[in-house]
Amino acid sequence: MHIIKLNAIDSTNSYLRELSTSGDPEDYTVVVAREQTRGRGQMGTLWTSEPGKNLTCSVYKKIDCVRKEEIFFLSMAVSLAVLQTLKRFGIPQLKIKWPNDILSAHHKICGVLIESVIKGDRLNAAIVGIGLNVNQTGFGGLSSAGSLKSITGVHYNLDELLNRIISELKHYEGMIVGREFELLKKEYEQNLFRKDKPSTFSDNASGSVFMGFIKGISETGKLLIELEDRMMRECDLKEVKLMY
Ligand code: BTN
Repeated sequence: MHIIKLNAIDSTNSYLRELSTSGDPEDYTVVVAREQTRGRGQMGTLWTSEPGKNLTCSVYKKIDCVRKEEIFFLSMAVSLAVLQTLKRFGIPQLKIKWPNDILSAHHKICGVLIESVIKGDRLNAAIVGIGLNVNQTGFGGLSSAGSLKSITGVHYNLDELLNRIISELKHYEGMIVGREFELLKKEYEQNLFRKDKPSTFSDNASGSVFMGFIKGISETGKLLIELEDRMMRECDLKEVKLMY
């Protein structure tokens, strides 16, 4: 593992993206920043984090065994790697909110942004951005956000967390390399937030709200929702938002 530690950068994902355009970073090149001035979240959102308090990092993961359409298995692997790390650190009530938010009870403590690196027309690598709220305790009144410290009262060492995440990621990567996709999916689904519970979703296109039960993940990586009339709906992140 090759670690690059930065004091401040716009975004660790963008930094790795630039590295990959000018060269060929080695597998598991990890960029960690004390501060991001323009951290990026999913769906074009901004990711904010108090400087020095949290883990904001990106991992360059070379890919030679999965196709573009199978990248969601990497997303599962990353979610499980963070979840298992946090379990080891004693964080309670952990769940994965599809596709890859990590919650403790109802608080989002970690967000993941995975971006593909395409060279020619092949998926060459993925940039795995991880924003883990660790020692920050105020979230500007955002009650859905939390950190390890806000949940347990304990101060955590960022390097220890990062090292554990990387070794867990290597473990789950082994499942991808061995094409143990069913096993990976099963473990992911076992940890899925609100699975088999009545949940409310909003439809991004129409703005309408509907009820359904999360049943798992489809063969193509979409969220499977059983609607009230028993029909199944397959949704991707752009289509629906799980409200509660
Ligand atoms: C989300 O919206 O939940 C995803 C947040 C991902 C944030 C991390 S912080 C490190 C890496 N660099 C970025 O610019 N974003 C990711």
